[in-house]
Amino acid sequence: MPATPRRKVLLLEADVAAGGDLLAAAAALGADAYVATRADLYARYRPELTGRIAGTAFTDFADPEAALADLTAFGRRTGIDGIVPCWEFLTPLAAHLAAALGLPGHLPGTAPAGRNKRLMAKAFAAHGVPAPRTVSAPDPDTLARRADAAGLGYPLVVKPAEEAASIGVSVVTAPGELPAAARRARTGPRKLPHGIPLDTAVLAQEYVAGPEFSVETVLTDGAVHHLAVTEKFTTGGARRAELGHTVPAALPPDTRAAVYGAATAAVTALGLRNGLAHTELKLDPAGRPVVLEVGARPPGDHIMRLVREALGIDMARAHLQAVLGDRPDVTPRRDAAAAIRFLTAPEAGTLRWVGLLPRGPHIVETALTKLPGDAVGGPDDNLSRIGHIMVRAASPAEASAAADAALASVAVELATRW
Ligand SMILES: Nc1ncnc2c1ncn2[C@@H]1O[C@H](COP(=O)(O)OP(=O)(O)OP(=O)(O)O)[C@@H](O)[C@H]1O
Ligand SMILES: [Mg+2]
Repeated sequence: MPATPRRKVLLLEADVAAGGDLLAAAAALGADAYVATRADLYARYRPELTGRIAGTAFTDFADPEAALADLTAFGRRTGIDGIVPCWEFLTPLAAHLAAALGLPGHLPGTAPAGRNKRLMAKAFAAHGVPAPRTVSAPDPDTLARRADAAGLGYPLVVKPAEEAASIGVSVVTAPGELPAAARRARTGPRKLPHGIPLDTAVLAQEYVAGPEFSVETVLTDGAVHHLAVTEKFTTGGARRAELGHTVPAALPPDTRAAVYGAATAAVTALGLRNGLAHTELKLDPAGRPVVLEVGARPPGDHIMRLVREALGIDMARAHLQAVLGDRPDVTPRRDAAAAIRFLTAPEAGTLRWVGLLPRGPHIVETALTKLPGDAVGGPDDNLSRIGHIMVRAASPAEASAAADAALASVAVELATRW
């Protein structure tokens, strides 16, 4: 009997947070993984990644039309069976490429709104998705005028149309702070390292009070399967950084249903159809879900690992299955909980010493990403984490308590400033 040919997937830039998991999932599914990137960036890929890559398609993402033409030709020549969005800056290209090759993917017509928060706000408003009112402008003065004209009160949130990792996001409590916040939110015209063109518009958005959650979802041909709600813990000041996450969030069933309903409305409004989606939302003081944004991509911050530890669902595998047009494995195999907390310095400075990382029955993983002598940022900066602690427990409350206790047991000292 002839052997079934191995299927082939094309990952768009694999040197990102989810890249290793997606390559491992491709191998586990018996699929050959190809990667689209730039030659000089590929030369710096870690061996853990290159060891799992069957071939490369070098292209220039700075010119999306040329990249689409290159990768369409590559996909046809190579017989690619699935396009895997790995990095949010390339999700619109992934949608166009999947459509050009006749493969499962998001609707290309609405693809830019799956990434650009200015277009996302319009899509949410047009489809009645509960979301904060948002105005946008090319410069701080116009933004202040438009926020006034729209009657947006304070506090409000200023953010770039296209960034990630909370870069340029700040909560503004008075009109006088708006111009500086808008200047901080101005991005350059291109996203490095590829030089992908960015919308440089700045947004002002109603501030939504209340606890924050994300919904982890996999879509297959537009059918929505929610996998879990993640509870998120953030700093509370002008800059919002994530301090940790717990999966699943301990929510009463009717609240969870309302949260899932809002996430379904959001991913549908954006034309998402195949693959993972990560919807960030808050429960406002009236207990209603309000959607902040959707990432048409695997979640960051080790959330895929938390979902695996808590529920036994392999999200990377589900993402690949969905973009290959297979039915994803979404049945929970466990009914536990998992939590991560990020180690941060009390303020920006030079790291002098980090105490012993905890061990114990709940601890699943600990990691230190900075060494003594390294410069570190303060706790309100997502990019300045020192490491993390991950735990597993029987219930969300136990997981959160164990993670908080483990975090509190680690001493972090900065070098004394003279
Ligand atoms: N309208 C809002 N009301 C209240 N808080 C908000 C609002 N918008 C953003 N935030 C807070 O700021 C954080 C970062 O904002 P946002 O998610 O829009 O930026 P991002 O760059 O996509 O960040 P990330 O990649 O970390 O999700 C949110 O997770 C939330 O805590
Ligand atoms: Mg976000």
